[in-house]
Amino acid sequence: MKDNRNILVTGGAGFIGSHTVVELINKGFNPVIVDDFRNSDTKVLKGINAIVGQDPIMRFVDVTNKEQLKAVFEEFSFSGIIHFAAYKAVGESVAKPLAYYRNNIDGLLNCLELAEEFKVLNFVFSSSCTVYGEPKGTKIVTELSETQEANSPYGATKQMCERIISDVHKSGSNLRMLNLRYFNPVGAHPSGNIGELPIGRPNNLIPYITQTAAGLLNELTVYGNDYNTNDGTCVRDYIHVVDLAEAHIKGYEWLNNLSEPKTETINVGTGNGSSVLEIIHTFEKVSNQSLNWKFGPRREGDVEEIFADTSKAQELIGWNADRTIEDAIADAWNWEKKRRDE
Ligand code: WQD
Repeated sequence: MKDNRNILVTGGAGFIGSHTVVELINKGFNPVIVDDFRNSDTKVLKGINAIVGQDPIMRFVDVTNKEQLKAVFEEFSFSGIIHFAAYKAVGESVAKPLAYYRNNIDGLLNCLELAEEFKVLNFVFSSSCTVYGEPKGTKIVTELSETQEANSPYGATKQMCERIISDVHKSGSNLRMLNLRYFNPVGAHPSGNIGELPIGRPNNLIPYITQTAAGLLNELTVYGNDYNTNDGTCVRDYIHVVDLAEAHIKGYEWLNNLSEPKTETINVGTGNGSSVLEIIHTFEKVSNQSLNWKFGPRREGDVEEIFADTSKAQELIGWNADRTIEDAIADAWNWEKKRRDE
C-alpha cells in the first residue's frame, strides 16, 4: 500500500505516545504529534530530540475540537493514525465520569470521521485490558475471553470505543483498524531522556515505587494482601513501554499491507504475571536499596489477577515482548533519578 510515512499520533506527548514517536522516527516514519498537554509536559519534546536528534513535528490540538484537528489533516497527508489521546486513570474516572466519556469518546469519533473524510485508511487504537474486567476462571485472557461489565468509566470508554470501531467496520467503511489491548505499561526509554511523568501523586504502582525510593513520597501502601493469589497481592502483566511502542509500528505495518478493509484486536502484554510484592522485591534487587512500604486496605475497582495470552500478537503481526520486568524497573529507576538532573 502507498505509504508516505506520515503518521498522525494523537496524544503523542504522553507516556506511551512519546516512546512510540521515538520508535517511529527510528524506523524512518514522519510522526506528527497532536496534543494539548493537558496530561503531559512539553519537556518531553526536548527528551525526544535528545534521543533522535530532531524536534518532532507537533501541533497544539485538543482532539475533541474537530475544527482544530481537521486543520492538521488539511496541512499534512497521512498514511495512518495512532490514536492515544484519552484520559486513562481508573480511579479518577470513577470520580469524573462525564469528563472521561466526553474526552475519550469525542476524541475517537473526530479521528474516525476525519480518517474517512481524508481517506487515511490505517487506524491503530490504544485500547486496554480493562475491557476484560475481572476474568472468570483462567486469569490468562485471550482476545476471545468474555469481557465483563467494565468496573470503571475508564474501562467502559474503552469498551465503547471498540464497539464504535466494530460498527464502523460493519458499515462497510474502507478503514483498516487495529485495537491494541495494553496490559500494564511500565518502564522508560533506556537513555533516561523520556519516561512516565505522572501529574501529581502517581496512581500507578511503578512510579509510586520510584518516587518513594527517590524520597519524594514517604511510603508505598500495598493495596490488599488477602487476594486469592500466591502471596495475597494482586497480579498484573507489566510490559516495557518500548516493547509496547514497537507493537504499534508492527501493527501499523500489518494494516498497511492489507488489501481490503479489516478490523482486529490483539492483547499487548508479556504473558507473564507479577504480584505487587514480587515487583517490590525486584525493585529492591535492581536498585540495591530497600523500599519503605506497608500493607493497606484493598483499592476499589482493582482486578485480582490478569495477564495476557499473547499468541495472537505473534501470529498476526509478528510481535512479542523482548524486555523483562527487571529491564523495565531498571529503566524506570534510571529515569526517576535522571529526570530531576536538569
Ligand atoms: C497495579 C497494582 C494496585 C499503586 C493500569 C492503568 C490502566 C490500564 C491497566 C492501560 C494493583 C497496586 C498500585 C499503589 C498498590 N492500562 N498498587 N499501591 O490498576 O492495573 O491499571 O493498567 O490502559 O490504565 O491504570 O495499574 O499500577 O494502578 O496497579 O498496591 O500505590 O498495584 O492495587 O494491584 P492498574 P496500577
